[in-house]
Amino acid sequence: MNIQSNEARCTSCHAGYGWEDKDFDFSDQTKVDCLVCHEQTETYKKFPTGAGNPVTESKVFPENKKTYHPPDYNKVAQSVSRPSRYNCGVCHFFGGGGDGVKHGDLDSSLFKPGKNLDVHMGEDGQNFDCIRCHSTTLHKIAGRVYTTPASKHRKTLIEDDLASKITCESCHGNRPHKGGHKANDHTDKVACQSCHIPYFARVNPTKMYWDWSTAGKKKDGKPYKEKGPLGKTVYDTKKGSFRWEKNVKPE
Ligand code: HEC
Ligand code: HEC
Ligand code: HEC
Ligand code: HEC
Ligand code: HEC
Ligand code: HEC
Repeated sequence: MNIQSNEARCTSCHAGYGWEDKDFDFSDQTKVDCLVCHEQTETYKKFPTGAGNPVTESKVFPENKKTYHPPDYNKVAQSVSRPSRYNCGVCHFFGGGGDGVKHGDLDSSLFKPGKNLDVHMGEDGQNFDCIRCHSTTLHKIAGRVYTTPASKHRKTLIEDDLASKITCESCHGNRPHKGGHKANDHTDKVACQSCHIPYFARVNPTKMYWDWSTAGKKKDGKPYKEKGPLGKTVYDTKKGSFRWEKNVKPE
């Protein structure tokens, strides 16, 4: 453990080119990485500890032994378009230190989901991109936490923060069910998600428990990792112990 954070790693997702320490200039618009959200070759990769920068020459990342190559900027720049699920997913599926760690409902299974997994994003169905719901005006991406609700009497703690807000009702209205269906009478008090998300982490396991206090153990004097029944690391000398679960029932 160290009181200093590994900022140059965090800022490969907490965006900006070259955000390494407290001296980063948030007012400099040239530091915004447009390509991570807009390029479509899926070859543009940031080096994990590069403070948001891709590499300038091929380099191996020791932790996963993957080689990162400098992007072909001609191809990348010529591919720019509206953000796809891939663009949002490269950050949002891996928050917290890996696939499905922070969110059991946002993981790599949503790069190419079937309709059975996701009724909206399924490639064999509506094939929605994230931004079909997270509608965006002048780069303000509608969300839950930072925005004002569509439904006036359902408030978040920071709802006076201004921007457009998304809810299921934005598209389905508050009587989404066939005429006479009892569920229509519930939508004023019961969130759609309470009934429509019976389980999450249905393809990939999600991390449900993390105990940092067990970090530091060694085997034969060396750091080690141990895999559990779901094929995920359940002990890591650097990070402590974890528990993973699949088909988790929301509370
Ligand atoms: C792989 C991408 C990625 C990396 C690397 C990353 N984050 Fe995040 N982080 C996210 C995303 C995406 C969110 C948005 C919240 C969400 O997903 O719910 C977030 C949210 C947060 C939040 C808001 C509270 C919360 O838990 O949602 C904090 C604090 C945070 N990150 C700290 C860090 C720190 C510190 C590091 C480095 C040690 C780091 N992050 C590295 C993707 C990342
Ligand atoms: C976090 C992801 C993200 C980043 C970073 C980002 N964009 Fe966007 N951008 C979007 C989304 C989402 C839209 C809306 C697309 C839509 O709904 O059609 C958008 C739309 C646009 C549009 C279309 C006009 C508009 O405003 O709707 C332009 C031009 C654009 N972006 C340029 C840029 C430039 C230049 C940068 C870097 C300075 C940048 N974007 C960075 C996500 C991003
Ligand atoms: C470079 C990494 C990166 C990319 C690409 C990215 N995000 Fe994010 N996003 C983040 C981080 C990090 C946060 C949390 C920021 C914070 O809390 O300070 C965040 C926050 C959000 C939030 C707010 C979450 C909340 O709790 O309210 C939404 C919604 C969101 N992003 C949607 C999107 C969408 C849609 C796209 C694709 C157009 C996208 N993001 C692309 C890193 C990214
Ligand atoms: C069918 C519409 C829809 C699609 C498609 C969609 N979202 Fe969302 N998303 C929502 C709604 C609605 C919420 C707010 C949920 C709530 O109030 O609990 C939300 C919440 C979020 C949040 C905030 C979570 C939090 O804990 O605060 C993030 C981050 C996010 N979505 C990212 C994404 C990403 C990335 C994609 C694409 C892979 C995506 N969403 C696709 C509708 C959608
Ligand atoms: C951007 C608009 C949009 C948003 C936001 C949205 N939906 Fe949908 N939803 C659709 C569309 C379009 C369909 C496909 C309708 C069809 O197949 O008849 C759909 C289909 C569905 C279905 C399947 C219907 C069927 O007959 O199989 C369910 C259930 C559903 N949505 C629930 C939700 C929930 C819950 C939320 C909030 C988390 C939500 N939707 C947010 C547009 C949206
Ligand atoms: C009390 C539980 C419950 C709540 C709350 C609920 N639903 Fe449903 N919903 C259901 C059930 C059960 C069905 C399947 C109905 C059937 O097959 O006859 C359904 C079906 C649907 C369908 C498919 C159309 C239909 O009539 O079969 C859509 C779209 C939908 N719900 C959207 C929503 C949205 C949007 C909300 C929030 C405004 C919501 N639901 C709230 C239980 C609920």
